[in-house]
Amino acid sequence: MIKKIETDFSSEERYDRVVDAGAHSEDSDIDIGLRPQTLDEYVGQEKAKESLKIYIEAAKMRGEALDHVLLYGPPGLGKTTLSAIIANELGVNIRITSGPAIEKQGDLGAILTNLNRNDVLFIDEIHRLARNVEEVLYPAMEDFSFDFIAGKGPAARSIRIPLQKFTLIGATTRAGQLSTPLRDRFGVLLRLELYTPAELVRIIKRSAGLLGIEIGEDGASEIALRSRGTPRIANRLLKRVRDYAQVKGNGVITSEIADRALTMLEIDKLGLDNTDRRMLEAIIRFYDGGPVGLDTLAATVGEEAITIEDVYEPYLIQLGFLTRTPRGRCVTRLAYEHLGIPFRAGCQGDCAQTSFDFN
Ligand SMILES: Nc1ncnc2c1ncn2[C@@H]1O[C@H](COP(=O)(O)OP(=O)(O)OP(=O)(O)O)[C@@H](O)[C@H]1O
Ligand SMILES: [Mg+2]
Repeated sequence: MIKKIETDFSSEERYDRVVDAGAHSEDSDIDIGLRPQTLDEYVGQEKAKESLKIYIEAAKMRGEALDHVLLYGPPGLGKTTLSAIIANELGVNIRITSGPAIEKQGDLGAILTNLNRNDVLFIDEIHRLARNVEEVLYPAMEDFSFDFIAGKGPAARSIRIPLQKFTLIGATTRAGQLSTPLRDRFGVLLRLELYTPAELVRIIKRSAGLLGIEIGEDGASEIALRSRGTPRIANRLLKRVRDYAQVKGNGVITSEIADRALTMLEIDKLGLDNTDRRMLEAIIRFYDGGPVGLDTLAATVGEEAITIEDVYEPYLIQLGFLTRTPRGRCVTRLAYEHLGIPFRAGCQGDCAQTSFDFN
């Protein structure tokens, strides 16, 4: 059992797309109720789970804190959930905060000095830590001490407060933005991957069970295929389809009901919405399928480059609809086919796929 969860982080509402993987305010209640509590309940991410099981077991046998863990990957894949599970499996408290919430060195000091032995400190969006805060995090992670300068001018002196051993779990959608000294201080680096439709079916059926929703295998699979590899979206779509099933059907989610509900939301068979289609079509129409630079593309579709990179692209790349090349983004033949646009070879020759990673 997790003994205590403290949080001073509330997820901001950044986007309003149904299929956007970022947290919406309406998600918080479903998120809390549906969060798995143990590694065995946590579906998928087998590679990450396998290593974690070993490290957690070893740390427990030695009665020591687990090494610091960095979780990275696109939003909504379960980083926050996994952190709470790690604390739970270790049998320690978790203290939850986020990079932008820690404004001053003293804020971090207050958190660190209040941790109990072997506790987990979870810092979400760790790439957004202020530089001066990051600097005091280094000795805390390495030597378990909090160093700060008290006073000003000639009277200033450096003070070192010893800390209890703890585990820092950092989460980020942008591992590439982490400074090297910070990244190097994590002993365990785990990248979370988009989920397969089969894994999403398991998550949807589990959530449906918890919410008391009747759903068939084919209904779950219809939602899974349209959830962009992301549990948060799967849970959100499940809720929307449930409403539809109650009003337009007898409450049971069949594939037909799911299809009708999601079509009404303009989410197509592969989970693409208008924004995705608009972006792909813009690349085809204005740039002959690419390559087009990220910033140019962002300006063309009226989105921020960061949003395109973090939120839209990972899934389009996984589908094989989009590739990243040194010269920019390219749309593939598969995407033309999906959109029903006759294919014209554009940049296809130099489209080597790169994946979401430290780049
Ligand atoms: N492996 C999983 N098995 C079952 N449910 C999951 C899994 N991963 C995530 N979920 C569900 O998906 C939702 C989103 O997960 P979570 O908030 O942990 O994502 P996140 O990666 O922290 O997102 P963000 O990057 O926006 O902070 C939660 O409701 C959680 O219950
Ligand atoms: Mg999170």
